Amino acid sequence: MEVIILNKEYIASLNNWCDELLTFVHQRNEERLDLFTEEITKLKEYLAKDLTEEEEQDIYNRAESLSSQISEVIDVDRNNTSRIVKIGEHQLPPLPYSYSALEPYIDREIMRLHHDKHHKSYVDGLNKAEKEMEKARKTNNFALLKHWEREAAFHGAGHYLHTIFWTIMSPNGGGKPTGDLAKLIDLSFGSFDRFKNHFNEAAKQVEGVGWAILVWVPRTKRLEILQAEKHQNLSQQDVIPILVLDVWEHAYYLQYKNKREDYIKNWWNVVNWNEVSRRLNTARKVMWESF
Ligand SMILES: [Fe+2]
Repeated sequence: MEVIILNKEYIASLNNWCDELLTFVHQRNEERLDLFTEEITKLKEYLAKDLTEEEEQDIYNRAESLSSQISEVIDVDRNNTSRIVKIGEHQLPPLPYSYSALEPYIDREIMRLHHDKHHKSYVDGLNKAEKEMEKARKTNNFALLKHWEREAAFHGAGHYLHTIFWTIMSPNGGGKPTGDLAKLIDLSFGSFDRFKNHFNEAAKQVEGVGWAILVWVPRTKRLEILQAEKHQNLSQQDVIPILVLDVWEHAYYLQYKNKREDYIKNWWNVVNWNEVSRRLNTARKVMWESF
């Protein structure tokens, strides 16, 4: 009995996964992805039937093969990272494996909710915030800017971090890193074990909600481990600042007192655009896949 219930759940989640793939293929509107539409639709028809044990096994195999074929296309996309995501047009990236692929370590039910509901709501929230800020720029009405900036940071950080999260896990994962990454971990933390302990503690000790994040620090040429408590507090994450304006009081108070606005207005007279351009050119070398 137990087994039958589990299978039913798996079939329901496979069905959802198919729907999500169809949406993704449709949104991309690319010929090479169209090839999958037929196979996904067939699989869905199959899933709607009462299945024999043999047919079920066949379905698992077809889902696995579909998943690896689509992953290959997404992998190719990773090399093609120049697509611009227009304002308010972020997409939920499809899971690069099936919902149950990370079991027994992470349940299919968690993966389904986490990806389909939670990540999706970050994508929707970010799109909404971007559109609202575009409207504010066009109408010169910034009355709600603080709210939409907060929303853009919260949902943007959520979208970008989850997009990384799905890809840094794999059913074939585990073990230890090799090559340059291994060397850099040794240089930055002493050894892989010390890195892992530090990362575990950082994750355990995140206050409330948040993330443990391993980052490359371009200044030190080393890796560092950071905690992101409520990810929006550190702005969007996965972005590179190119122009910054310090509005702490120490930056202007001696001269401008409480007139922050005057300081901001005058500050534009000293911006070094050559350096901003140089930072942009270096930053643009980092291009992740577009979602
Ligand atoms: Fe999450």
